[in-house]
Amino acid sequence: MIQVLVLGAAAGGGFPQWNSNSEACRRARTGDPCALPATQASIAVSADGAHWYVVNASPDLREQINREASLHPKDGLRSSPIAGIVLTNGDVDAVAGLLNLRERTPFALYAHPRILGVLEANPIFHVLAPDVVARRAFTVNDPFDLQDHAGRPSGLRVTPFAVPGKVALYMEDATKGEDFGTVEGDTIGLEISDAAGTRMLYVANCAAVSDSLRERMAGADLLFFDGTLWSDDEMIARGEGSKTGRRMGHVSMSGADGGIAALADVDIRRKLFIHINNTNPALLSDSAERKALEAAGWAVARDGMRIDLP
Ligand code: MLT
Ligand code: MN
Repeated sequence: MIQVLVLGAAAGGGFPQWNSNSEACRRARTGDPCALPATQASIAVSADGAHWYVVNASPDLREQINREASLHPKDGLRSSPIAGIVLTNGDVDAVAGLLNLRERTPFALYAHPRILGVLEANPIFHVLAPDVVARRAFTVNDPFDLQDHAGRPSGLRVTPFAVPGKVALYMEDATKGEDFGTVEGDTIGLEISDAAGTRMLYVANCAAVSDSLRERMAGADLLFFDGTLWSDDEMIARGEGSKTGRRMGHVSMSGADGGIAALADVDIRRKLFIHINNTNPALLSDSAERKALEAAGWAVARDGMRIDLP
């Protein structure tokens, strides 16, 4: 069995976002039940319900832990059910939460060497002392068994794979052409499975749905997929930004090459959008866009959601 907790469903900035006075963010601030607040994207997975592995350490991790009883300390004066963290990219919304975990409780930290290099090059992350936090590099397409800092097995196996995407915003280099210096390891998807063959995927950052991605997703029990925007020019059309989804490395939900259309004929038992931007009308449960995605067999992840697989 794989137990899954959605710690946060929103994209970078969260919902409501600190500087947004949009109607949607105002609705979220006033407690509108159709505009539920959401923290920045992260899930936790466990095979036994006692040892949890968190996918991406969002800036909201402290709040996410505090409101989730499964992640509260249970053994002695200092401990945590969080046995490890797995990173899929180096964006602020994926790594800043590591700084919340600096109080010398051991865990394992898994990432591609590209992202481990980014952490190493930013000395603030040295608060995760090497004698406490075991940093482990993974290789794309090379499955590994998730283990805690001491090498104890989790019962979960991870296969990291490359996903079309982009280098972290703060590392973009405009002199390096239209991919801004993106290299392998900047955007990773995760396939997570248990001994019984239950299989789920986490692909919260994705610039395009390739055939190899579709093949990998076929037959999965659960997919979390990039739901940043409903439409590519949404932020520009709403006067809330200057970038398209494409420019940010995110495929949209709608449109001929969007996530809904691109995965329509792929056999996936349950499909959830995650990493949803505060400009995306599908965040609102009373929107036409939400109804459209649900009619297409999708759902939107919510903070606090629990899923037991199978
Ligand atoms: C993204 O998903 O595009 C990034 O999280 C943007 C950011 O770093 O703010
Ligand atoms: Mn993001």
